[in-house]
Amino acid sequence: MTDLSRNAFDTLLTEAKAVYDATPALQNFAAWPTDLEFAPHAPQHIPALRQIMMWDNDHPLHTATQAIVPYGHWIQTYTEDDVGYGFLQDYGYIELYGPTGHFTSHQGRAYIAYWGKGLYYPWHHHEAEELYAVISGSGYFEAEGQDPKTLTSGDCQFHKSNQPHALTMKDSAILTLILWRGAGMTGLPKMGSNG
Ligand SMILES: [Fe+2]
Repeated sequence: MTDLSRNAFDTLLTEAKAVYDATPALQNFAAWPTDLEFAPHAPQHIPALRQIMMWDNDHPLHTATQAIVPYGHWIQTYTEDDVGYGFLQDYGYIELYGPTGHFTSHQGRAYIAYWGKGLYYPWHHHEAEELYAVISGSGYFEAEGQDPKTLTSGDCQFHKSNQPHALTMKDSAILTLILWRGAGMTGLPKMGSNG
């Protein structure tokens, strides 16, 4: 872990906090953690990094995410059986902060997640409550009991505990900041619409 990468992660956290400070829905969802500590992780790469690097967008959190691409511990929690081969070529996320994040916190959990244009993220659910904030691009958000809607940069979408939801990247790829809170915060999403 070089100073260069540490600086890039510090900038990433600063820009995520700037989005948080500019977005009342995020502030109302959860407090910004006060126990954040940088935690070195071995880089882990995924195919989508090439597309993330090629995607020009001026949002400061978008460019800060691109800057940590080589150092990020990029995660995919689905298998080819779950979502198909193509999905795994164009999706992935990092845990920005949380129990196993690039910054350790026991107060909350935040991800930066990417899905490529044309992907359909099928119906899934999880115990933790969730708030998506779109950084760049757009997505068509569906959630059980709500009208579907297309969200773009600055828009937010809340999911209740175990509320099934799905996401389609119709017009663009999407980059999102996602916060989790409450019971199940250390769990993972599960496919299927039944809790
Ligand atoms: Fe979710």
